[in-house]
Amino acid sequence: MTETIEALVVIEEGADKGLVEATLPAGGRVAPMAFVEGLVEGERAIREEPADLMIVACRGATEGVVELIERSRAERPDWPIVVLSADAPDFFVQVVLEAGADDVVKLPEAPERALFAIDKAIARHRGRATAARQDAAPMVCVLGPKGGAGKTVTASNLVVDLAAAGRRAVAVDLDLQFGDLGLSLGLAPERTIYDLATSGGGLDAEKLDAYLVIHESGAKVLLAPTRPDQAAAISIELLREVFTLLRFSHEIVIVDTPPDFTPEVIAAVDVSSHVCMVGSMDSLSLKNTKLGLATLELMDYDPDQITLVLNRADSDVGLTATDVEAVTGRRAEVLVPSARDVPRSLNEGVPIVLGHQRSPVAAALRQLTGIYTPDEAGPSGDHQAPRRRRFRLGRSR
Ligand SMILES: Nc1ncnc2c1ncn2[C@@H]1O[C@H](COP(=O)(O)OP(=O)(O)O)[C@@H](O)[C@H]1O
Ligand SMILES: [Mg+2]
Repeated sequence: MTETIEALVVIEEGADKGLVEATLPAGGRVAPMAFVEGLVEGERAIREEPADLMIVACRGATEGVVELIERSRAERPDWPIVVLSADAPDFFVQVVLEAGADDVVKLPEAPERALFAIDKAIARHRGRATAARQDAAPMVCVLGPKGGAGKTVTASNLVVDLAAAGRRAVAVDLDLQFGDLGLSLGLAPERTIYDLATSGGGLDAEKLDAYLVIHESGAKVLLAPTRPDQAAAISIELLREVFTLLRFSHEIVIVDTPPDFTPEVIAAVDVSSHVCMVGSMDSLSLKNTKLGLATLELMDYDPDQITLVLNRADSDVGLTATDVEAVTGRRAEVLVPSARDVPRSLNEGVPIVLGHQRSPVAAALRQLTGIYTPDEAGPSGDHQAPRRRRFRLGRSR
């Protein structure tokens, strides 16, 4: 982001104006449209200033500051809000974030670091605004807080099954170091997200489309870098832009993830509309699944938008569906049995819903597709696909 940021800067009575001016130096990228002194003046300016965002410099968490932030949130919902404060104890940070601020910068701070925080706040705000827009396509983050849980099996089958059902579906491999979504789909890494990140210049939907690899089902995929060291080239800002563009150029976005809540994963969850949590039927995995669900709760994720998939759910390991519910606090919506077809289909590079259509695993995964295509569900809730495309796959049996 290199454009000038036109800011309304409101300075609370008693806050150090000199310190604010040193943080936002003249000639820098933040171009104050107006330096308004006093909170009452600030409230008036909210209605009148044609700025890109509001910066509030304050002494502390006074009622007036909280009111100003809430007023701005209500009247200018498109504005990111950044708070600058020389005295920002933790409770203050929490209070202003709850009031609707996007970030808090403790002063003194070097101008470039403050600018970084402002850029981040703008990106985060745009991401949230996208997530809230009704016309944005659903974005499903496939999470599973353990390697080998079955995330990639789930994400790869989901995206091709959606494409087979006639949806413009796209997947992003966010396992930036060890992503194998492409491998599971039999796709050669001709273009990856690393190529996109290092291409230079701006980004728009058309350019992004040129970096997607097309699967024969019609599904498009933004592949992970081919080498772990390339992951460092991919910034959170790029990812947010990518998600936004994909959500306005496709009908559904599926995101495969690494096992941890990395900053990239948190950014994706932040702007997603749905989470598909994949756990497997053993007590360690269930404990991690519970932790993952607790993390989503801390992030205020709507529990109604979370789907729990239990993989290897037929394993004879002495756990029942009731045990699972007791541990995780949720009932699993989809139970995927264990089957040798799964590693086999991975080796073939043909997702099981295409290559082994009669496998019980394929049936379970199609049920998951049905959850994200509710208008195609029959009266029994079973997945039917009137728009399903017919397939001829050389390697299917
Ligand atoms: N239901 C299943 N039955 C048999 N093997 C499975 C099943 N689900 C996953 N696997 C195997 O487990 C391994 C890990 O699956 P994967 O989807 O790559 O996990 P993750 O992406 O969560 O790390 C793969 O080799 C896959 O073949
Ligand atoms: Mg994986």
